[in-house]
Amino acid sequence: MVSENYNEAIELIRKSKYTIALTGAGVSVESGLPDFRSPDGIWSKYDISKYAYLANFYEDPKRIWDFVRELYSSYSDAKPNIGHISLAKMEEMGFLKCIITQNIDNLHQKAGSRCVIEFHGNITHLRCLKCGKVYKREERDPFKWEVPICDCGNPLKPDFIFFGEGIFEDVLNRSFEMAKKCEVFLIIGTSAEVQPASMLPLVAKESGARLIDINLKPSRITLDGYSDYFLRGKFTEIMSKMVKDLEGEK
Ligand code: APR
Repeated sequence: MVSENYNEAIELIRKSKYTIALTGAGVSVESGLPDFRSPDGIWSKYDISKYAYLANFYEDPKRIWDFVRELYSSYSDAKPNIGHISLAKMEEMGFLKCIITQNIDNLHQKAGSRCVIEFHGNITHLRCLKCGKVYKREERDPFKWEVPICDCGNPLKPDFIFFGEGIFEDVLNRSFEMAKKCEVFLIIGTSAEVQPASMLPLVAKESGARLIDINLKPSRITLDGYSDYFLRGKFTEIMSKMVKDLEGEK
């Protein structure tokens, strides 16, 4: 049975020698970025079957790049919120080992978090699916190319993961390694509906970790009965309170 007891949850984090977090789009909503599956999320505006799959990119790279340019424009104005900053502070204080993020908005890094694994890739690079060459965004600025093209002549893809694409081997290995070692696993601002990211908390649980779900509403992990704690509320409010309480106890 999942508990909503904040004091017990914070005590777990304080005592834990190895806590990691899986974050999703919900942590950036209070930075002005829409998430994906909430009522006004990205997939309510863009048909997921036309924009989220690798096949869509092959079908019509220009349609995908037009969509990606919209995303990039919103990301460039976004600033880390007090929740991102609180997670960076928790890392600095030794209460958080690493963040595995599904987000590509770079806000954890901008907030000062040092250990950030970009599970779904990033917006800072472009990759050729034909020859594998990777370019920095400055080398093939998507705002200067309708469809950025590789030296080999093929269209370049933004270096984040589409449905139907595998997660990079090293990212998978590092993430599952940490999930197996951690004592406490925070699931923050994610519906945990997308695999293999949503497998991480389950692997952690199997290895003996305690799961704490922080969200406006229960994530799939809580709905399926795996979470030990569910802390209902806004990312910024819960995380800033957590840091204050942890600072107080140091
Ligand atoms: N505070 C806490 N949680 C929030 C907040 C907030 N202010 N706002 C939204 N949330 C929660 C929502 O309740 C939801 O559970 O964040 C979660 C966002 O879930 P999704 O929109 O499904 O986003 P995410 O889990 O990151 O999606 C995973 O799906 O489309 C793909 O690649 C995309 O990385 C993405 C993946």
